Amino acid sequence: MAILAGKVAIVTGAGIGIGRCEAVSLGAAGAAVVVNDIDSAAAREVTAEIVEAGGRAIADAADMSLWTSGGILVQRAVAEFGQLDIVVANAGVVSRSPIADVTERDLDAQIGVLFKGTYALVRHCAAHWRAEHEAGRVIHRTIIATSSSAGVPGGVEEFSVYGSLKAGVATLALGAALELRRYGVTVNAILPHAATRMDAQAKGTEPPPRFDASNPDPMNPQHVANVVTYLASERAAWLSGQVFEITGTNVRRWVPWSSAAEIDSDDQWSVEALDTALAASVYRTLPGGRVIPSN
Ligand SMILES: NC(=O)c1ccc[n+]([C@@H]2O[C@H](COP(=O)([O-])OP(=O)(O)OC[C@H]3O[C@@H](n4cnc5c(N)ncnc54)[C@H](O)[C@@H]3O)[C@@H](O)[C@H]2O)c1
Repeated sequence: MAILAGKVAIVTGAGIGIGRCEAVSLGAAGAAVVVNDIDSAAAREVTAEIVEAGGRAIADAADMSLWTSGGILVQRAVAEFGQLDIVVANAGVVSRSPIADVTERDLDAQIGVLFKGTYALVRHCAAHWRAEHEAGRVIHRTIIATSSSAGVPGGVEEFSVYGSLKAGVATLALGAALELRRYGVTVNAILPHAATRMDAQAKGTEPPPRFDASNPDPMNPQHVANVVTYLASERAAWLSGQVFEITGTNVRRWVPWSSAAEIDSDDQWSVEALDTALAASVYRTLPGGRVIPSN
């Protein structure tokens, strides 16, 4: 039997790129899929692709930067398919800019899609699943939140807004994993790498052609979709509060901020003493504890 048979999934930003592969893969694995994308034509195209392959899907064009969209998606999944089991929060935008040039508009646009919309979707799912759990419906549900290696390992130059918000998404996944486990909900975050429109935009290159699903290129978004399909399944019901970076077939687990060297003192710190003690442990290091080469 297909691994997601009988399951119902929402994938946001599923019109192209990673989200498209995720939606098609979840559909092929047996899930009924709500294919969301603000680009309604792209959402309809992916929906048709899933249906033509024998799956079940509906298209949705809600703007995931809005608080209400998460609730609308949950309602649509339940109204059309009777339940909701899997949520892949994937919709995203990126903008590259030196901090000194970031505009309020840029900031708000990225906050909206990357954080507010993701948070609102998680929030509306949490309310729905809590109500179901309290009504006695105890089954596995899961959220996969899309973070980024621009956020989790540390900051990246000229992606300060995007990276900060993606770090927030990973932290949201960790907190939600703790809070929602009592309702049978697992929550994990991914840090994908794939050649997509967004990736090209970030690198200032031309958008890539669509990959065939079987293309082994490590930048084929299908690799991300394969891991997401597993995380969406009951086989991964034991996994929660994890952050996985996916680069081709390489899956790397990241752990939350971890402490490095410590200093302490019997007396209150003086400027002199603090400077001397920190120089021994922090001097010439970068965020994340990496050492600046001394040449
Ligand atoms: N491609 C990478 O290497 C990479 C790396 C790290 C993180 N990510 C993340 O993965 C996710 C998918 O990225 P991608 O590379 O496939 O990008 P993409 O630009 O190819 O696709 C993003 C999709 O999101 C949709 N979208 C944008 N705003 C929306 C909104 N308000 N409501 C609904 N849909 C909206 C777009 O229409 C598009 O279809 C994003 O969250 C991105 O930040 C991608």
